[in-house]
Amino acid sequence: MEVIIKKDRESAGRLAAKIIAGLINRNPAAVLGLATGSTPLGLYNELVRMHKEESLSFRHVKTFNLDEYIGLDPADPCSFYNEMHTNLLKRIDLAEGAAQIPDGRAKDIVASCEAYEAAIKRAGGIDLQVLGIGHDGHLAFNEPGSSLSSRTRIKTLSKVTIKANARFFGSEERVPKHVMTMGLGTIMEARTCMMLAFGKDKADAVAATVEGPVSASCPASVLQFHQNAIIILDEEAASKLQRHDYYIDVYEDKPDWQRYE
Ligand code: F6R
Repeated sequence: MEVIIKKDRESAGRLAAKIIAGLINRNPAAVLGLATGSTPLGLYNELVRMHKEESLSFRHVKTFNLDEYIGLDPADPCSFYNEMHTNLLKRIDLAEGAAQIPDGRAKDIVASCEAYEAAIKRAGGIDLQVLGIGHDGHLAFNEPGSSLSSRTRIKTLSKVTIKANARFFGSEERVPKHVMTMGLGTIMEARTCMMLAFGKDKADAVAATVEGPVSASCPASVLQFHQNAIIILDEEAASKLQRHDYYIDVYEDKPDWQRYE
């Protein structure tokens, strides 16, 4: 795991965007895995800026989102479909049909999850998966207890997650209980996993992910088994890491050829 601690979420978002831009420059037909929620918003704004001001093009890029609420209309302001289009997809030059998001209105959820897995395979797999983390250690919507080798499927949200996401819906009652989510096994097949976490309230989940035991009780800890996992944090989210100073030293002393910035 490469743990990078930036002073604030703005500089962290800029670094994450630089890593994605570097990938697209090397491989204009890269396949990106995308996350919703508040964490990647700075990253998405920076990608839009790079598209507008530095001619970063997404014309040959394909994207797959991690998850979606079951039963919400895509036009609902709280659907991940809507959120993703508003925050990124509508603002860049992706080709028609290049963005895929799990279909929370599918009649046959099982078949739709299988089709989603097949579409990722057909695209050649995900080159870089963007991830946030829940307060309970969830990755995508793989709540604690999820199989570490799970595939795209239906999940029931935990009370912790319903409470956290009520801020988007106005009340806990309005948050759908069920979601479709890539599994941990699906996520682990991405060639690079890039997890972002900001704020004091994520510090416990981050410490459990990076320095705790690998366990389904903290689903994000499965990233310890990933060959190429980059964890980008602000100081607050990193505040409970025992090896905090070591991670800073490693990043500062990177050889030039390994540097992102
Ligand atoms: C969203 C997702 C979730 C969020 C997590 C953190 O697609 O998969 O795992 O990344 O719930 O949400 P925020 O960023 O809103 O704190």
